[in-house]
Amino acid sequence: MTEKNTTFLDACRGKRPSHTPVWFMRQAGRYLPAYRKVKGVMPVTALARDPDLASQVVVDAVQALGVDAGIVFADIMLPLEGLGVDFTIVENVGPVVKKPIRTSDQVESLETFDPEEDVGYVLDGIEATIQKLDEAVPLIGFSGAPFTLAGYMVEGRPSKDLEKTKEMMYRQPEAWHLLMSKLTRMVCDYLSSQVSHGVDAVQLFDSWVGCLSAEDYRAYVGDYTKEIMTSLRGSVPRIHFCANSAHLIEDFVDTGADLLSVDWRLGIGEAWGRCRGRVGIQGNLDPVLALSGGEAMRRGVREILAQSQGRLGHVFSLGHGVLRETPPENLREIVRMVHQGTKAKA
Ligand code: CP3
Repeated sequence: MTEKNTTFLDACRGKRPSHTPVWFMRQAGRYLPAYRKVKGVMPVTALARDPDLASQVVVDAVQALGVDAGIVFADIMLPLEGLGVDFTIVENVGPVVKKPIRTSDQVESLETFDPEEDVGYVLDGIEATIQKLDEAVPLIGFSGAPFTLAGYMVEGRPSKDLEKTKEMMYRQPEAWHLLMSKLTRMVCDYLSSQVSHGVDAVQLFDSWVGCLSAEDYRAYVGDYTKEIMTSLRGSVPRIHFCANSAHLIEDFVDTGADLLSVDWRLGIGEAWGRCRGRVGIQGNLDPVLALSGGEAMRRGVREILAQSQGRLGHVFSLGHGVLRETPPENLREIVRMVHQGTKAKA
């Protein structure tokens, strides 16, 4: 039995860890040979539906990289099946919804989500993963956030500016708020069931909400995120993730999250300054630096560590998910650099 690695949870709780913890979004993914071998030709949704294989790819990634936390293998789209939303995840494209949700009638007819019934396989996968990890590292659960999920439901396919989603927000505010309320209920139930099945922390992915102005964020989204964060208060650490959203940092702090996961567009020193010690920060190396490797990558890592030195609540990560062409050795080098560069002096 190995000694328990508490660095990630220590950092999340504002305690000083024995080294700065590291994990990567999409650390179990196609860039990793062990993942490709397990996945074969299966669609990502089929892999997620098999608790034995899903737990295996999580553990493979943790072992291959030497990271300080694992993340549940699932996809943000999966619980939407419980609402009656039919979708596929198209390789190299992303989620495609068969019948986009655009009218208030469609919003009203969404079904009620039941975690055990609709995503029982995710919950079984969590238990299998925890058993296989044997407490070596903690396990992070996750959910998409209401806005980002609504984005896929309304657009029907990945979109850069989410124009149809915003149009629904502006033209049909009642339908919008009903949709956000239903998704908020679903996310609260989904995350609390993950917590009761043993996850040690949760991350809420509001990947695309950076396309809103701060004013619209407050009018159409912020209260729902607060409700989710509040529903989990006192249980496990809560991480909020959003890309491309430097203009929303203060609003994200106000949601009550314990950590903000920020991307590389905002210098982490400035992020620390603007959060004024109210939250921890996760991030924020550019995934393209992790893919490129070499001196440019090492400089990026050193810079983030220098700007975060002495701060409580830093979790080292990339600003977004690992890119497909990333050599796994680059990620191992990042882990070694962060661990060696931050080890507490005895
Ligand atoms: O280690 C991990 O992080 C894996 C677990 C995980 C997956 N999806 C599996 C997956 C997580 C945390 C997600 C979250 C997710 N899914 C998000 C939020 C994070 C973000 O990137 O902002 C979003 C927006 C999705 C929707 C989605 N699913 C996209 C955009 C894609 C990429 C499509 C492609 O082929 O490039 C997917 C597919 C997907 N989900 C993959 C993985 C590992 C890649 C396909 C594969 O490996 O087969």
